[in-house]
Amino acid sequence: MSNNIESHLSEDREFKPSKEFSKKARVSSMAQYKRMHKESVEKPHVFWAREAKELSWDKKWGKVLDWKAPYAKWFVGGKTNVCVNCVDRHVDEGRGNKAAIIWEGEPGDKRTLTYSQLQREVCKFANVLESHGVKSKDRVLIYMPMVVEATVAMLACARIGAVHSIVFGGFSAESIKDRLDDSKATCVITADGGWRRGGVVDLKANVDEALKKDKIVKTVIVLERTRNKVKMKRGRDVWWHDETAKVTGTHKAKSFDSEHPLFILYTSGSTGKPKGILHTTGGYMVNTYATCKYIFDMRDDDVYWCTADVGWITGHSYITYGPMLNGVTQVMYEGAPNFPDFSRFWQIVEDYGVSIFYTAPTAIRAFIKAGDELVEKHDLSSLRLLGTVGEPINPEAWMWYYNKIGGGRCPIVDTWWQTETGAIMISPMPGCTPIRPGTATMPFFGVDAAILDEEGKECKANEGGRLVIRKPWPGMLRTIYGDKKRYKDTYWSDYPGMYTAGDGAIRDKKGNFTIVGRLDDVLNVSGHRLGTAEVESALVSHKAVAEAAVVGRPHEIKGQAVVAFVSLKTGIEGTDELLKEVRNHVGKVIGAIAKPDDVYFTPALPKTRSGKIMRRLLKELVATGKVTGNITTLEDVSVVKSLQKLVKKK
Ligand code: WT7
Repeated sequence: MSNNIESHLSEDREFKPSKEFSKKARVSSMAQYKRMHKESVEKPHVFWAREAKELSWDKKWGKVLDWKAPYAKWFVGGKTNVCVNCVDRHVDEGRGNKAAIIWEGEPGDKRTLTYSQLQREVCKFANVLESHGVKSKDRVLIYMPMVVEATVAMLACARIGAVHSIVFGGFSAESIKDRLDDSKATCVITADGGWRRGGVVDLKANVDEALKKDKIVKTVIVLERTRNKVKMKRGRDVWWHDETAKVTGTHKAKSFDSEHPLFILYTSGSTGKPKGILHTTGGYMVNTYATCKYIFDMRDDDVYWCTADVGWITGHSYITYGPMLNGVTQVMYEGAPNFPDFSRFWQIVEDYGVSIFYTAPTAIRAFIKAGDELVEKHDLSSLRLLGTVGEPINPEAWMWYYNKIGGGRCPIVDTWWQTETGAIMISPMPGCTPIRPGTATMPFFGVDAAILDEEGKECKANEGGRLVIRKPWPGMLRTIYGDKKRYKDTYWSDYPGMYTAGDGAIRDKKGNFTIVGRLDDVLNVSGHRLGTAEVESALVSHKAVAEAAVVGRPHEIKGQAVVAFVSLKTGIEGTDELLKEVRNHVGKVIGAIAKPDDVYFTPALPKTRSGKIMRRLLKELVATGKVTGNITTLEDVSVVKSLQKLVKKK
């Protein structure tokens, strides 16, 4: 049996940035990239010290790195304040009147905050937190809509050394409770609601439910956003606007050790219990700063927009921290991409002249499904750089993004990273890396990425294996909060001294990394390994297909059979004829081995609220005919019922 993921897809389209883009970019040739990458990996102390010096420190570090695997300390002994670097530094350097956040609410209300105004808001809120007894290292749980105050709350925590732990606004009361139990947060920041697809998400009610039996939380600070009626518990619940009216808009920030905890963010693992990924101060700050500077090539006149929610790591590193550290102007949008219809994002790009746009493949596929007319009626000529993150992007969606959104002129940075890595790890350099649909390309500075087989040997070109990082990097997680053993076991025990990402990847002769997907999503068909993402990508490249999810089901002879759940573009009927065509199409793109044994046409796939397809459910469904696993994180629970019927009918 082969140990490698066999790539049956051949992708030979390649695009280079325009001369004009390259000339202005910070990294403008592959020779420069290679030189800098070599230095960053061989002499990390030199490379990272230079980056760190561009930010402000109250006390300079001694050693750049102290590494006792699997524990790293970066900028050892240094003292700094991340919030001061994100906000005050820009005001002090004369950029106070520059727009920091251009915000748009889902109903259409608008607000712009300059760096000076942001400083005032952050200082006020830091004072509020301190007036309620929140101290350095105390945990603060944030459960908020995508409003300016979410960022203000994060930065205020960082300013006073409190550790924020954000729970995505789409999560349930039970999820809040689990995270409170684990983090022992003493303060919760929430809102009376947030707007989503024209309705109000009742955040406060979920907090109330989560706190029913709680004895640890002392204060709940509630932002008035929707004027939704909420219950306020006396002695515990206070209004954001009442509290901020009592304090001044100045606050003297203390400095914190480089390894002071900055935040905890919970993420799912292979077990049911979410892992509290802990990030610290100095290394995370320098790493998010540098990735924004080089990968998004952020400039003073850019208008940057990342469509993520602050509830995910992308919203931490590439809304609140990295962009603010670079002093950029950014757009923030509260609501759904399809409210009132799927042209909302393009309207925003046009209205504010967005120049750098960062989104997820799942969103791109939704736009493709909605139809090109919604894009074509907007002027997107302000865009100069596009990015994607979160999952492998299928080449057809990539091409659509490149041509329809980028007008064929914007480089796409397909950025691979994880909650655990803190910052982008593999990505093109927009000014020089030749880009290919579906390929994350090259490691970022300081990242020593490799692909290993099960014995720990490095795979040859075009041979798939496990993605590992062989050296520590500044933005890496420091531990799983309260669970050192799980930290060691999950990330550092497959190969001694190396970080295992849990992803399968393949590298071509030039050294480009393509991320195939989570290793638990890899199938083995007749001794051949197939990436589910690869089969999906083939399916989606069929003109009738909008989206697809592929799982394996046990098969007597082949080991596993390939099962595909396919949602078709609007208006296309799932006939038997089309079914055959789609199967054959996969055969054509990848090879007969990958032809799905079963194809189910379905109007919707089971997705989490963050847009990830829950293959775990499909796997169970095709194996047993039903779903018994936990479905609480599903965006739409009714999908499960209709899929059960569909699979039974066969
Ligand atoms: C997993 C991490 C990183 C922020 C959002 C997700 C997948 C992420 C890519 C990409 C292929 C990707 C990986 C990774 N992933 N980016 N560009 N190409 N796969 O963060 O929830 O921690 O998920 O997302 O499988 O392990 P996360």
